[in-house]
Amino acid sequence: MRHLSVPSAQTQHWLERCRTEKWLMEHTGVTTLPDGKKAIPLNDSAPPSDDEVWQGHTLLELEAKSKAPSHWTEHLDIDLYEAHKDQWPKAYETQGDVLIVKIEDSVWDAAETVADAMLTQLPSVRLVCADLGVHGDFRVRNLLPLASRDGTVETKTRVRENGYLLWVDPSKVYFSARLSNERIETLETAQKLSNHLGRGLVVADPYAGVGPSMGALLNEPNLIRGYHAGDLNPDAVELLKANLTHLSEKRKGVDGAPATHLDPSTVVCKDATLWMKDEAFLQSCDLLLVNLPHDSIGHLPKVLPLLRREQTTVLRGWAIVQRDQQGADQKRIQDAITQAGGTIQSFKFDEVKGFSASKSFMRFEVWMRLEV
Ligand SMILES: C[S@@+](CC[C@H](N)C(=O)[O-])C[C@H]1O[C@@H](n2cnc3c(N)ncnc32)[C@H](O)[C@@H]1O
Repeated sequence: MRHLSVPSAQTQHWLERCRTEKWLMEHTGVTTLPDGKKAIPLNDSAPPSDDEVWQGHTLLELEAKSKAPSHWTEHLDIDLYEAHKDQWPKAYETQGDVLIVKIEDSVWDAAETVADAMLTQLPSVRLVCADLGVHGDFRVRNLLPLASRDGTVETKTRVRENGYLLWVDPSKVYFSARLSNERIETLETAQKLSNHLGRGLVVADPYAGVGPSMGALLNEPNLIRGYHAGDLNPDAVELLKANLTHLSEKRKGVDGAPATHLDPSTVVCKDATLWMKDEAFLQSCDLLLVNLPHDSIGHLPKVLPLLRREQTTVLRGWAIVQRDQQGADQKRIQDAITQAGGTIQSFKFDEVKGFSASKSFMRFEVWMRLEV
């Protein structure tokens, strides 16, 4: 096979050039020559050795050096790969040992082959599932198992996030690893609020899912005095309970001292808009998390009464809003607080990430004081 011989320091430059021009032979590695130069493998479309493009560098005939595949597509049959070059999945998501991938209709017949190739390339993956879209009231994903390393097709698995472990189940409960930064920011806000109040906090997380936000908060010694957590999806509550039990057991106090007892430590399967009817929840928390992005703002009048009165409290929420409606939505949040008897001390309404051309995923954080 023809190879381009270049000084070692120019290897990256020539690799990029050959890749861009599509002259690079795929699945073949760069060889180090006895004189220290590097030999880059070329395919048949690369120009002949006397072409000016090589700038005087020599072309050699060498035996091809096979390269360990670095991408799952390298495990596909080359003819199959070339026949659908632009239709293979470009991205996938993993939750624990479960890989979730969207597969285009045009390559659906090769879905199991894709899954096998992914299992071969990614040793930490146990199960590869096709993502058939969200369904049902709780907007969970419809997953079709395509290939399993050990024959098990259970989608319940465990993820590590910011140093704590969480049980998740992508076919039954919403969870997004992409929002882990939001959990870190929630922790930072909680620390500021705790410093301001001079004590541990009671948190309400009524749309908790499997409890990733509680994970971040409970991981911090003595930041949390107690919590009310819940979800309307019974499958979420089952995992939430398991996660909160584990997180509570792992909790540490300051400087290795035993952690303080958590009181309250409520977990419920209940519509968040009904929590305010329960005396135990009403005016009980310092920090309120509202994560129901399609309905967060509409739910505010029903969940703001969970915040304590006559002290500083914080609301953190997430909402999907139309780009041209951001001003109106900001006003809806502010109005909900005013109507609940609140005075706003600080207000932030920021985009988390681009959602689509017309919609954006927003985070709001409001420091306030509700009067009696
Ligand atoms: C976007 S997810 C957020 C989950 C979690 N906070 C997270 O960050 O991973 C919204 C959650 O709210 C739950 N949910 C939907 N409607 C609800 C309601 N009326 N009351 C309580 N939970 C609800 C869903 O089951 C889902 O788990």
